Amino acid sequence: MEYTVKSGSPEKQRIGCVVAAVYSPRTLSPAAKIIDKASGGMISNLIRRGEIEGDLGNTLLLHNVDNTLCDRVLLIGCGKEKEIDTAAFRKINRTMASTLKSSGTTEVASFLTEIPIRRRSLSWKIQQSIEAIDEALYTFNQLKSEQKPPRRPLRKFVFSVSGRGQLTEGEEAVRRGMAISTGIKLSKDLANLPGNICTPAYLAEQALAMQKQLPKTRVSVLDEKEIESRGMGAFMSVSKGSTQAGKLITIEYKGGDKTQKPIVLVGKGVTFDSGGISLKPGAAMDEMKYDMCGAASVLGAISACAELLLPANIVGIVPAVENMPDGIASKPGDIVTSLSGQTIEILNTDAEGRLILCDALTYAEKFDPEVVIDIATLTGACVVALGAHAAGLMGNHKPLVHDLLKAGKQSGDRCWELPIWDDYQEQLDSNFADIANIGGKGAGTITAACFLSRFARKFNWAHLDIAGVAWKSGKEKGATGRPVSLLVQYILTRVIDGK
Ligand code: BES
Ligand code: MN
Ligand code: ZN
Repeated sequence: MEYTVKSGSPEKQRIGCVVAAVYSPRTLSPAAKIIDKASGGMISNLIRRGEIEGDLGNTLLLHNVDNTLCDRVLLIGCGKEKEIDTAAFRKINRTMASTLKSSGTTEVASFLTEIPIRRRSLSWKIQQSIEAIDEALYTFNQLKSEQKPPRRPLRKFVFSVSGRGQLTEGEEAVRRGMAISTGIKLSKDLANLPGNICTPAYLAEQALAMQKQLPKTRVSVLDEKEIESRGMGAFMSVSKGSTQAGKLITIEYKGGDKTQKPIVLVGKGVTFDSGGISLKPGAAMDEMKYDMCGAASVLGAISACAELLLPANIVGIVPAVENMPDGIASKPGDIVTSLSGQTIEILNTDAEGRLILCDALTYAEKFDPEVVIDIATLTGACVVALGAHAAGLMGNHKPLVHDLLKAGKQSGDRCWELPIWDDYQEQLDSNFADIANIGGKGAGTITAACFLSRFARKFNWAHLDIAGVAWKSGKEKGATGRPVSLLVQYILTRVIDGK
């Protein structure tokens, strides 16, 4: 999709569709007023007849409005003007995108940029709109034998701004929005691929392909022989149960100066999680192909940052494995030695994410990080705790946790903090090793994070449990691309907007 920014009057847009807001009760936005006036009161007449109230989610599509140059006018109900918050604005954009999608319009000029929202800039509105539109138009059909492209796809979208003075801000927002959106798409595409295609080796190939496409980016891949010889016994304890060879993928983007310590992102890359010997039940097990969504979000976020040429140094570390039962797979009770030297009693082979992540975290030390953020579909308990609305956030460094919470609010890709008090640590006590890989009943998300915290003592660290947000189940089954938007927003505020 092509996004551009333009200033101009709504009735003078020679385009397939002009989009304008209506507030409740029955109040016209400035753009709707101008069209109403040009057309001799057509919109106010319709409103009087009760065609559109202006409630959030209302839509009205008009054709051939007098004295306008566009084919259609799409009115979007936005609710009470003074009450439009970020959630409402996101809903407005989703409504617009899905209505346009089914309308046969190919070119659109939107005046929803004039909707007032407290503490939100034009730039924020444009970025949010791009994410919502691309989300509504996303499809994953590459594995269907018959590909039916939409007959008249939306292909050009113009954001209207109120004056030429806003063009620069608008254009920069389009650049950001499109880069983030491309990162989200990359992440969704990887995640939606099935486990028999998206294997650890496939993830490594995709990372290597990114090195070719993106500026200032270098990728290296360790194979099992090197992983083993470096002493990553926890990683290997998971990987050895599969015929698919595990990979440790590192992707470095060097956009900052040499002295700048890197932001390290560690993404769980379990390309399929059967549970191993502690086999999962069969229902919805297919969804465990999404157990690499952390990895996908790391690749997506780095692609966005590189495309924007952000002045930051970023390292992505992706431990990629398949978790399978096998004759040589790890068994409950097995004890392994992690890269950190700590021994781990594997009481449940389905708690595999933390086993690969702990070695990846220790590996991160060698980059002398400013901060380390790991992203993982780590616990079913997190889905119970927070559902699909927020990722679980835990960490050992208050300012980092604070910044991530803020980036979540700003991007709409939210996270919520859970405590990792020392009180929880004893749930991980083992009679036979330094630590057990499960924490028993209660606080499963927290004890998983407590486990990781033992391997993150040497740096500022935060953990995002994305089990509830990374994909949707049911009829709309599919990856969401979360938390790419959150991660890029965090990095953007760190390196550009101050701090
Ligand atoms: N990948 C799963 C977590 C998961 C499960 C995410 C369902 C989303 C939906 C993870 O590897 C896992 O199996 N975790 C276990 C941990 C338990 C054995 C302590 C879980 O959550 O049941
Ligand atoms: Mn598991
Ligand atoms: Zn898993």
